Amino acid sequence: QKLQLNLEQIEKGGYEHFMLKEIYEQPLAIKDTYRGRLLVEEGIIKLSGVEDNMKRFLNADRIIIVACGTSWHAGLVAEYIFEDLARIPVEVEYASEFRYRNPVITEKDVVISISQSGETADTLAAIKLAKSKGAFVFGVCNVVGSSIARETDAGAYTHAGPEIGVASTKAFTTQITLLTMMALRLARAKGTISSSDYRRQLQELELIPEKVKEALKADKHIQSIAETYKDSRNMLYLGRGYNFPVALEGALKLKEISYIHAEGYPAAEMKHGPIALIDENMPVIVIATKKGHYEKVVSNIQEIKSRKGKIIGIVTQGDVSVRELADHVIEVPETLENLSPLLTTIPLQLLSYHIAVMLGKNVDQPRNLAKSVTVE
Ligand code: G6P
Repeated sequence: QKLQLNLEQIEKGGYEHFMLKEIYEQPLAIKDTYRGRLLVEEGIIKLSGVEDNMKRFLNADRIIIVACGTSWHAGLVAEYIFEDLARIPVEVEYASEFRYRNPVITEKDVVISISQSGETADTLAAIKLAKSKGAFVFGVCNVVGSSIARETDAGAYTHAGPEIGVASTKAFTTQITLLTMMALRLARAKGTISSSDYRRQLQELELIPEKVKEALKADKHIQSIAETYKDSRNMLYLGRGYNFPVALEGALKLKEISYIHAEGYPAAEMKHGPIALIDENMPVIVIATKKGHYEKVVSNIQEIKSRKGKIIGIVTQGDVSVRELADHVIEVPETLENLSPLLTTIPLQLLSYHIAVMLGKNVDQPRNLAKSVTVE
């Protein structure tokens, strides 16, 4: 037992928990995802799984993304990216719903399954169903040689390295990195992106690891915010556009490891329900970066403030307007709007982590949850 403990400590590389280690590994993990694939100088994205099947992608009437949990949230981000950059219609489905819904699938559909473990039973069943209907199935997996990786027609690995913490962190950001590269490659092939925008995207994507490092510097500040709100019964997460899925993911992280009830919502939907919950005991985490419908999110923040909700704003460096209204702000570096989820996710991971640690929860192995769910 003693030996085992020591081994585990070595594996954690000096971090108190795997989750924290994995949060801090993200700059490197993202680099590993794009290494050898993102050639900025040459203006090339190399993904053989996409290249070899370019016709299938270009002839697709639509892309259907199937996934579960955090991977499903990465799928939602990808929906915005694929539609925005490559102009391909995308539907994102919970694998568990898709497989039992008698879905309409044809040979002209491309199905992308996203799975860290590559073993999630529902996702595996969903792709088997899609294959049987003649769809082309592409896998975005982390675990090499996993069942989903083997079952799919083609795919690309995220190369994030082993993720041990049950609550997914680096798997999420590396999935988004990979899906962004796919969307950019297809956008280039379809001519839906100008060459200058394309270059700009490549350059900005390459800078993301450094910017994630920068975002991680807010750790101590986030820890003090966690101290203030750790005893809350509920928390609300709001975001719009590309950052709506990030709000969902932030709420999921908090639920998973701290057992505090949290809900993610598109900011503009607040008025259709969640606003009724807001009072001085409700912390609201609002993702309000410069480029994502900023003015509208600021007016959502005003609505929360006038109801005495506590506001934690995730903002772009140097922000002024949100700072004036919010109780706390956490800054992330500026980037392109479609890349912002890679940065805004970081403080939300850290916030959940610190709250869970302060509450004495088992961060790496939360109750009732499993790292890979191989039963339905
Ligand atoms: C479980 C894990 C989650 C994960 C989900 C999907 O619920 O606890 O962290 O997001 O499964 O897993 P996958 O391996 O398919 O990405």
